[in-house]
Amino acid sequence: MVKKASLAAKGRECQDAGELQIGIKNKGVSALNFIISNSYAEMSVKAAHFVAAALKAKPDIVLGLPTGSTPIGMYQELVRMHKEEGLDFSQVSTFNLDEYRGLKGDHNQSYRYFMETNLFRHVNIKPENINFLSGVAKDPVAECKRYEEAIIKAGGIDLMILGIGINGHIGFNEPASKLEANSHIVKLTESTIKANARFFEHLEDVPREAITMGVGSILRSRNIILLASGTNKKEAVYGSMSGLVTTEIPGSLLQLHNEVTFFLDTEAAAKIKE
Ligand code: GLP
Repeated sequence: MVKKASLAAKGRECQDAGELQIGIKNKGVSALNFIISNSYAEMSVKAAHFVAAALKAKPDIVLGLPTGSTPIGMYQELVRMHKEEGLDFSQVSTFNLDEYRGLKGDHNQSYRYFMETNLFRHVNIKPENINFLSGVAKDPVAECKRYEEAIIKAGGIDLMILGIGINGHIGFNEPASKLEANSHIVKLTESTIKANARFFEHLEDVPREAITMGVGSILRSRNIILLASGTNKKEAVYGSMSGLVTTEIPGSLLQLHNEVTFFLDTEAAAKIKE
């Protein structure tokens, strides 16, 4: 009961994305919005409709994009809206959050390949508007600088879409006593390597390093949404909304931003509802 009351003070539960658009316009103080859906499918559709509304409002929108299993349903709905309703990606620019180190873009486990198969090749986005951190850059420091400069040149990210790791990571910003603000190379934690092993044939095949936007690169986005589904995300979601900010739960830093909305299913929301 106490938890519920304290959470209510930190966030605003919205019934649907329509209410959210209004809520965002009227909101002046920092507080996370959250929308809880009954299923993964419903959550995915609501998130996709939020993205589509933002795209229609600004056809040349700059999007920050996540990978992982969570956003797949949202990408499917965006593809459906493109094919059946003419949702137009022709002026959209994208910046993906992260990439494994050592994997070329055409490797079937690279995040670039994931984006091609789940979104890019099914919509009318222009290849020159797709931006990625290279996992095989010879000079990773220069690569990170190039990426940050490209984001600035594009006018900054309008809408950043995030997933969250079981340990609370966003992008590949792993829990630590200090976090890097800008794009950087990161060593993956054992728990992330294990969690992501399901996509690889062997645990040993999972890259041990990644290149990722920093928490500053993420927080500089004008608007942020985060999608989380399933019981194994309930602690990370709770830790990211509890009112306390810690680099040991990178998602909690989102509470420092003024325009953040969590799209959750009931399982991921279970602890904030307790
Ligand atoms: C990866 C990605 C994150 C993603 C997270 C959750 O490690 N770097 O950006 O949010 O996993 O993935 P999933 O949605 O598969 O649980």
